Amino acid sequence: MHHSLLLTLCGIASALSVPRQASNSTKYAVKTPPLTTPWTYEAGIDPWPEYPRPQLQRSQWQSLNGIWTYQNASSLDAVNSLPSGQLANEVLIPSCLESGLSGIQGEYTIYSWFATSFNVPSTWTGDRVLLNFAAVDYEATVFVNGRNATFHRGGYFAFTVDVTDYLKSDGSNDLLVFVHDPTDSDPYVIPIGKQTLRPSHIFYTPCSGIWQSVWIESAPASHVSQLDIAAGMDGQLNATVSSSGNSTQVQITVIDRKTNTTVATHNGASDVECTFSVQDVSLWSPDSPTLYDITVTLGDDVVTSYTGFRTIARGEVDGIERPLLNGEFVFQFGTLDQGFW
Ligand SMILES: *[C@@H]1O[C@H](CO)[C@@H](O)[C@H](O)[C@H]1NC(C)=O
Ligand SMILES: *[C@@H]1O[C@H](CO)[C@@H](O)[C@H](O)[C@H]1NC(C)=O
Ligand SMILES: *[C@@H]1O[C@H](CO)[C@@H](O)[C@H](O)[C@H]1NC(C)=O
Ligand SMILES: *[C@@H]1O[C@H](CO)[C@@H](O)[C@H](O)[C@H]1NC(C)=O
Ligand SMILES: *[C@@H]1O[C@H](CO)[C@@H](O)[C@H](O)[C@H]1NC(C)=O
Ligand SMILES: *[C@@H]1O[C@H](CO)[C@@H](O)[C@H](O)[C@H]1NC(C)=O
Repeated sequence: MHHSLLLTLCGIASALSVPRQASNSTKYAVKTPPLTTPWTYEAGIDPWPEYPRPQLQRSQWQSLNGIWTYQNASSLDAVNSLPSGQLANEVLIPSCLESGLSGIQGEYTIYSWFATSFNVPSTWTGDRVLLNFAAVDYEATVFVNGRNATFHRGGYFAFTVDVTDYLKSDGSNDLLVFVHDPTDSDPYVIPIGKQTLRPSHIFYTPCSGIWQSVWIESAPASHVSQLDIAAGMDGQLNATVSSSGNSTQVQITVIDRKTNTTVATHNGASDVECTFSVQDVSLWSPDSPTLYDITVTLGDDVVTSYTGFRTIARGEVDGIERPLLNGEFVFQFGTLDQGFW
């Protein structure tokens, strides 16, 4: 296989598919990090093209991952005066600003601006357009066409904002994100794991910025805003379908992947836990990781998800307390990969 040739052609194809304005920004290129892997130079500029949230998936969506622009800012007050004109550097989204892959490999990137633009496909049928961030470390203020659409705090959490009211009726929309990531700078004490601005010993280079996927999707006004599903070895399935609007009827369908047949259908209400049983389920285990597909219908919104039927418990085996999977002790064996990203 002419592997590198294929990668080069794919790179050209995706670069051509996105119309790019003449830019004053420094062009994107991977920076040489302290440690490289075979994938450092193969990641390309179309990262994570698959739907980013398999547990609550919609069919009408568009990834905003790829090359954005970035500019260092000087303080928290910068959020009050939006930059005019192009930001200084191209950046790969998603990435940690401190990584070579970001194209920035910054230090002390505490205040940042990120920008891109997007068009909403005219074929989308939902009334609303939802903008999703799978994670931004640590605080994000999101501006759409110059208007403040939302603020979010928490570097490990996904958030969604309905941006319909900020969109232009046609043409390109400007997306600008101000990010504040103090890590362990004085006087901040926030959840950071092992990140530090002064890496040494067992504390590591931090991760700042838009480090998980960004995407838009089409949904009706009343839609599924969250899905919590748990299924046990007894075939019982618990599901809470949260609704963006008023409480309403929902239908949950469980599908056997192997045969593509419906094995259970449950009609219930949104925003309360519902419980039902599926007969003769194949359990999930590492030796046989059987998954079932799930379709949830709430009014005009249809989303897909999946689950495995398994029970995790504590129990005594030969006089010793053990974690049990489906009633049995399974010896845990894996690598310790120490590092932050
Ligand atoms: C590019 O830089 C020039 C000179 O600084 C400026 O006049 C122009 O507005 C910039 N273009 C964009 C798209 O920001
Ligand atoms: C960003 O600005 C801060 C000070 O405002 C500076 O310490 C830091 O080095 C800058 N980082 C980059 C990547 O330019
Ligand atoms: C943006 O809006 C949020 C409320 O959604 C608010 O908390 C935040 O202060 C606003 N930020 C700016 C810079 O206006
Ligand atoms: C489902 O809910 C019941 C009742 O709250 C609970 O006993 C059971 O453990 C739950 N099943 C799972 C898989 O979480
Ligand atoms: C919720 O119900 C109220 C009153 O019936 C209605 O005006 C509103 O449009 C509903 N909201 C949604 C999102 O359907
Ligand atoms: C599974 O069944 C559904 C409905 O019967 C059908 O629309 C779909 O194409 C099937 N999927 C596969 C992978 O066969």
